[in-house]
Amino acid sequence: MSTGQFVSRCTADAMTSAAASIKDGNLVAFPTETVYGLGADASSANAVAKIYAAKGRPADHPLIVHIASMDGIGYWADEISEYAIALARTFWPGPMTLICKRSPEAKDFVTGGQDTVGLRVPDHVVALALLEAAKQMGVHGIAAPSANRFGHVSPTKADAVREELDQYLSADDIILDGGPSQVGVESTIIDCTGNDPHILRPGAITQAMIEEVTGLKVTDAQSETRVSGSLENHYAPQAMVVLDTTPQSGDGYIAMIDKPTPAGVIRLASPQSIDEYARILYASLREGDSQKLTRIYIDQPAGDGLAIAICDRLQRAARGR
Ligand code: TXA
Ligand code: MG
Repeated sequence: MSTGQFVSRCTADAMTSAAASIKDGNLVAFPTETVYGLGADASSANAVAKIYAAKGRPADHPLIVHIASMDGIGYWADEISEYAIALARTFWPGPMTLICKRSPEAKDFVTGGQDTVGLRVPDHVVALALLEAAKQMGVHGIAAPSANRFGHVSPTKADAVREELDQYLSADDIILDGGPSQVGVESTIIDCTGNDPHILRPGAITQAMIEEVTGLKVTDAQSETRVSGSLENHYAPQAMVVLDTTPQSGDGYIAMIDKPTPAGVIRLASPQSIDEYARILYASLREGDSQKLTRIYIDQPAGDGLAIAICDRLQRAARGR
């Protein structure tokens, strides 16, 4: 079994080594504010192929290219719409991915053969330091999906990355520990190639926030059929996920703090707010798996905003593997 190097202190030297490792074509798992990513040089076909191998992910699934600042957008994208620029100015660094028409630099191996590219500036000091150090070495962007095996729950802690991927990493690959992710669900993905923005995946940047900044009417994924192959279809733990019904003795249970725990039920989380719900959800699902529970009952949070993103992931998880 091969293992990556686990770096628990992200000093300036450690970041320089990690960036050099990316430059050399290796993988670096790194923290972001949403979830941990598994990164590789977005311009290197060999490096990006290692991501697909480590994740066990089909090669036609496009990857998000992470960049150090919005200056990098023009390298990867062409014909960037005005509203996309406004969104980038307002919400980057932050939990938002913009889908733009790709430039010739965004190759098929990173876009999954689509004529668009996903771009994001993450809001995490370690991610930004890595991106900046890599940029100094000539790396224009780091392609990074969530650092989990394909179809599994995204990791929000470095230990979860290690559990998911360590055996699929080589000795030159690195896992950077930057503490728990503060948002906890993946970025909002916004298709910016049409006249109006279109949400492909809900996240912490909400429809109302996008409408306010762009002055445009935003459509979302719920309102039409998803583009086949454009999104992962589940974020599922080993346990069966059951929504909005009463758990039985021996089942796991996740609900807001005001919901009581039925007798014999194993309470996995009692968030006090929607933000906390998002932040701890994935770690709670992992906890259910580590306790070898067969079923986890989850009460979906009410409301709009981040609650929509949470419910989106829960419904995918409940659809099963
Ligand atoms: O918060 C996040 O977005 C995290 C962190 C690491 O940045 N990344 C993440 O990546 O969730 P991933 O690969 O697990 O999910 C990205 C989703 C995929 O479902 C992919 O199909 C979609 O974004 N995507 C990427 N590029 C796309 C494109 N050009 N067109 C449509 N969908 C795209
Ligand atoms: Mg993912």
